[in-house]
Order: sequence, then structure tokens, then C-alpha cells
Amino acid sequence: MNKLLFIIVLSVLTILFHYMYGMSHTAMLEAVHRRLCYIPIVLGGLWFGVYGGVATAAGISLAVVPFIYMHRSMGQEFIPGEIVEIIFYGIIGWLTGMLSDAQKNERKQNDVLKEQLRTSERLSTIGELFAYMMHEIRNPLSSIKGAADIVADQSVNPERKLEFAGLLKSEISRLNRTLDSMLSYTRMKLEPEECNINAEIGKIIGLLNGQAEKNGVKINLFSKDDVVVRVDCDKMRQVFINLILNAIEAMPSGGKLDIVSTGTDNTYREILFKDTGPGIKPEQINSLFKPLFTTKKTGSGLGLAISKRIVEEHKGKLLVRSELGRGAVFTVRIPCNQ
Ligand SMILES: Nc1ncnc2c1ncn2[C@@H]1O[C@H](COP(=O)(O)OP(=O)(O)OP(=O)(O)O)[C@@H](O)[C@H]1O
Ligand SMILES: [Mg+2]
Repeated sequence: MNKLLFIIVLSVLTILFHYMYGMSHTAMLEAVHRRLCYIPIVLGGLWFGVYGGVATAAGISLAVVPFIYMHRSMGQEFIPGEIVEIIFYGIIGWLTGMLSDAQKNERKQNDVLKEQLRTSERLSTIGELFAYMMHEIRNPLSSIKGAADIVADQSVNPERKLEFAGLLKSEISRLNRTLDSMLSYTRMKLEPEECNINAEIGKIIGLLNGQAEKNGVKINLFSKDDVVVRVDCDKMRQVFINLILNAIEAMPSGGKLDIVSTGTDNTYREILFKDTGPGIKPEQINSLFKPLFTTKKTGSGLGLAISKRIVEEHKGKLLVRSELGRGAVFTVRIPCNQ
């Protein structure tokens, strides 16, 4: 039932009660009928503000006027008593309405503030990304320029030229990689396909095992079932690579990374990455997924930000929990059907 109809029905019922038992001399009924009218008035104020409260109070007051007239001969105190009651209807209606309006305004202002905060956060992220981009593009550009000068210099011997041509190539690919990761952060278009998650993780482990062994890290994959889900396989691979690389990098003097892949039920798939590294400081947990947050000398701080975007684009969640000194657990939760 909608709120307006509810108030009207309640008002009619209380007025009827007034007419039927208004002159009853049972103390209990007298008390009930006096207070019943306040319920629709308070609700009117609460739901429709000052106008709602005052209008309900006025409606009920008008409806009881004939009742007062009918019983005008009830004694000296009857009419003043009823008038005081009507004045209170108005005061209560106005007061509840005013408080409710003030609360609504405050909520609206809070929403505006929150939106402004979100916009400024977004702008500052864009600003930071822009500064990072300038830095990441300018650095390889200056080495490219230096290397090109040497390659073009007639007096430089061919071996040195070859060496600098190689540098030229590697700097160009670095630039390309940076731009690629920027693009995958800003432009995200999913191309869902059938993807065997466990098989993909297995392949990635094979690829990264060399790097893991160098750090003395042992990677184990635990999976009870083999489910094919519809996701953007390429993008999910990127997420798994980022998480595995982060774990390997977090354990430079050895450790263990357990990857547990399970289906919660038929709707979600969960992949846990549990490492035995140093864990994450509580004050860093909130910054972890922000672009450019890194504690590494050569890190871009985009790995987790991109991974979170990818998982969220799949309507999933990337969660982290960590116990300092005992390791970190990253959980990728994705719905099975995209
Ligand atoms: N498994 C982990 N254990 C401890 N700290 C972690 C782990 N994974 C991520 N971190 C912390 O989160 C930070 C951000 O990670 P993210 O992958 O976004 O960037 P990065 O690894 O520093 O750089 P990039 O991934 O671009 O090379 C890391 O610098 C590190 O401090
Ligand atoms: Mg990383």
C-alpha cells in the first residue's frame, strides 16, 4: 500500500474511532482515542515533511469539528479541551515534518559531498596517471634520442652502433609495454569465451616457474574440479600473472604459494592465492588497488589496479586479507556465467 493511502486509511479509522468511542467514559478507551490521532499526523510529517504533517493535522482537526459541535453541551471544559488537542495536532505535525525535512536535507547534502569527493578522487587519479605517463614516456624517449644520435654518428664504430641499435629496440618495446598497460587500465572491453581456469593457471605456473625457482618459491595448484567458465580468458590470465608475480616478488628469499581453485556453488568460482611472504601492512591495505601504489623500486603500481578493474568488469571481486609476517591471501571471485 502506498504511504499516502496508508495515512488516509489510518486517519479515517482514527476519526471513526473518535466518533464511535469519543464520548466513552471508559478510561482506557478515552486514553486510546486521544492518542490514536497522533499516529497518522506523525507519519504524515515523517514521510511528507512539514506540509504532510500540517495537512494531516488540519484534515483530522476539520473532521472532528462536527463531533465537537454535536457534543457542545458536554460541559464547560469540553470545548477548550478539544481546542487544545487540535492545537497540539498542528504543533506535532509541524514539528515532525520540520525534523524530517531537516534530516532529508542533511542526507541530500551528504550525498552531494560524497559525489564531489568521488569526482575529486577520480581527478587526482587521472592527474597521477598523467604525471606517471609523462615520466614513463620521457625516460625511454631520452635514451632513444641518445641511442639514435650514436647510431647516426659516422665516427662511431659498427659494433657500438649495433649495441645502441639493440638499446633502441629495447627502449621502444618498454615504451610499448607502458602504453599497453595504460590502455588496458583505461579502455576495458571484454571478449568472453569458454575458459578452463585451472588449465590456464597450470600453463601460467609453467611459464613463471623459472622465476619462482630463482627466488626459491614453490607454487602448488589445488583444484577439486575442472570447470569451464565464460570469461575474457586473456584478461583473466593477466590477473593471474599479476597475482603470481606479486607473490613471487614478495618472497625473494623463498616461500610457498598455494593456489586453490574452487567453485562456491554453480554461480561463483573462487581462486585463492595464498603466499607465505611478509604480508601487507594494515595501513597499506586500502592503497593496494589504487593505480601507482607500489613499494618496489621498479614497480609501476598498476598490476593490482588493472587486475581489480578486470575482475570487476566480470562482475566479480578481488579481495585481500593478510597477517603481517605470515603472508597474504588474494581471492579472485568471478561469476560463472557472463
Ligand atoms: N602478495 C603480496 N605480498 C605482499 N605485498 C604485496 C603482494 N602483492 C602486492 N603487494 C604490494 O602491493 C603493491 C602493489 O602491487 P601492484 O601489483 O599493483 O604493483 P607492483 O607489483 O608494485 O608493480 P607492477 O605490478 O606494476 O610491476 C606492491 O608494490 C606490494 O607492496
Ligand atoms: Mg605487481
